[in-house]
Amino acid sequence: MDQQLEQYRAEALTAIAAAADEASLEAVRVKYLGRAGSISLLSEGMKSLPKEDKPRIGKLLNEVRTVVSSALDARKTGLETERDSKALSGLDISLPGTPAAIGSLHPITQLLDRAIQIFRQMGFVLADGPDIETEWHCFDALNTPEDHPARNEQDTFYLPDGRLLRTQTSTVQVRTMENNPPPVRIIAPGGVYRRDEVDATHLAQFNQIEGLYVDEGVSLGDLKGTIEFFFRELLGRDVQVRMRPHFFPFTEPSFEIDIKAAALGRGDKWLELAGCGMVDPAVFQEMNRKRGDNAYDPEKYTGFAFGFGLDRLAMILSGVPDVRLLVENDVRFLAQTK
Ligand code: DAH
Repeated sequence: MDQQLEQYRAEALTAIAAAADEASLEAVRVKYLGRAGSISLLSEGMKSLPKEDKPRIGKLLNEVRTVVSSALDARKTGLETERDSKALSGLDISLPGTPAAIGSLHPITQLLDRAIQIFRQMGFVLADGPDIETEWHCFDALNTPEDHPARNEQDTFYLPDGRLLRTQTSTVQVRTMENNPPPVRIIAPGGVYRRDEVDATHLAQFNQIEGLYVDEGVSLGDLKGTIEFFFRELLGRDVQVRMRPHFFPFTEPSFEIDIKAAALGRGDKWLELAGCGMVDPAVFQEMNRKRGDNAYDPEKYTGFAFGFGLDRLAMILSGVPDVRLLVENDVRFLAQTK
């Protein structure tokens, strides 16, 4: 029996080495280790051996079984590796793959990020308010009378409960002063809504950034310096800023701001960009009434406010000809806005 085992071991190892594919290797396994395989049959014969031979033969049997089965495993792995490398040999792994498209920031987001950065340098902090507002926050608190055209149903989206979609981010001035005593120095970017016919230069929703600074001794000079610093940082040293007297209900005096800069690529033309002014004492008084204190004492505090649209400026800076492209979410457009 010893001899027989040694013979099977030698035969099996030779057959394993010679097996050219996985099927013939499997056939070798069945032939020697399968249920009716030669080695398995020999171990059945163990029963009839004399007692004194059993331990020796049993040990040898185990050894042969282990050797053969690890040789089978090793050859199997070898054959698999051969097969895989054959499959890969026709493949040129130096060919470039298909790159995944990487998005880019929306032009308005890019402009907004930069604007926030510049105002932060001057100590302005971010403030926020809801898009759905009360009439009081949007108009009354901002000294805008009942018969003002902006309050017309033709101009503003009203909800059935009397609230409305804010027409200006100036609402955040009100929300800030309602809840915080002076000094305040905030900017508030966000969406605003108007009943405009949508065309290449108008959307019913657009974006503004609002600013408010209230403290003792805030002057028109501070307003002008702030605005000039902002546009110089944003558009370059050659920027020219012009303030034209205008009317807004919540500031007195009020101005419109025009800008000229090479970066705008509009030659010698002024671009009308923002509204601003000194906070009207009537706004402070309404804040005090609502707060039930005299925190915004108009004899003690002054302030300036400003607001401008982001969409038109973003369009000019990134050469976008039609405002609708900003909201259509076309990837071909967004891929270009680096
Ligand atoms: N809210 C004004 C608008 O939407 C812009 C504006 C003008 C904001 C003057 C201000 C301001 O804060 O002082 O047209």
